[in-house]
Amino acid sequence: MIKAETIKEVRDQVKAWRKEGLTIGLVPTMGYLHEGHASLVDKAVSQCDRVIVSDFVNPTQFGPTEDLSTYPRDFERDCKLLEEHGASLVFHPSVEEMYGEAAATYVEILNDMPKRLCGQTRPIHFRGVCTVVSKLFNIATPDKAFFGMKDAQQLSIIKKMVKDMSYGIEIVGCPIIREDDGLAKSSRNTYLNEEERKAALVLSKAVKLGKEMAENCEKDAAKILEAQKDLIEKEPLAKIDYVSAANFDTLEPETQVKSGTLFAMAVYIGKTRLIDNFLYE
Ligand code: PAJ
Repeated sequence: MIKAETIKEVRDQVKAWRKEGLTIGLVPTMGYLHEGHASLVDKAVSQCDRVIVSDFVNPTQFGPTEDLSTYPRDFERDCKLLEEHGASLVFHPSVEEMYGEAAATYVEILNDMPKRLCGQTRPIHFRGVCTVVSKLFNIATPDKAFFGMKDAQQLSIIKKMVKDMSYGIEIVGCPIIREDDGLAKSSRNTYLNEEERKAALVLSKAVKLGKEMAENCEKDAAKILEAQKDLIEKEPLAKIDYVSAANFDTLEPETQVKSGTLFAMAVYIGKTRLIDNFLYE
């Protein structure tokens, strides 16, 4: 596996692969990789000749009071996992390499999509995500890019950006990978102490409850949201940020459950903010 730290190294390698007629898949990550990330790499390897994984904690998507400085990092361990899963190149740039000193250009969706759900408490988050993903698309010029449903709003927003900006890249959504007890895998789970780790199960339990209600033909989204909230509020360490139903494509609020309704939540467990969701199909 090639380890690249500069944009030029990636571009030169991509050029060489293109000369050979090979297809390229991109998996953007912020590192501290787990089986959720690995599942994206596996899918990319199964669909593309060469797979580039970016491993970059992107400062522009963190708010001033968020966890940029404490975000977990372990590049050597990431490389081992990526090698085992068949990635061809890991792109691990410095902040200077990605943004330089005076970067002033952003990619931002100007409708309400980035303001809804997580955007209510993370107002600049999706501007940072769109900007860095857009840069990664320009650097790696992939045929396909792979994103997890774990971050459903992010996936929806990236699809919108790709359409609006005519990127010509196929966006492939991948299912949420969970721990054996149901907790969605996340790099941020390492912040949880033993007690909080147990309390964090309330998210996946609420997702499961909502999913069962929807599958048992409950069509009133408010009823499902109420049941989910009641369950979460019983957990003393949990504090709800939001529990919402939205159209997966537009992120507009949804009152009737139908195909494409996304039930998404963000819940604080102690100081750690966790997200989970299910898509009714
Ligand atoms: P990060 O949180 O590292 O996640 C990278 C990718 O892995 C995202 O597409 C995310 O949805 C997916 N992922 C994380 N946990 C998952 C799980 N349990 N199951 C399935 N997929 C999972 O998302 C980001 O980084 C950043 O915002 C990024 C897109 C890299 C831009 O900086």
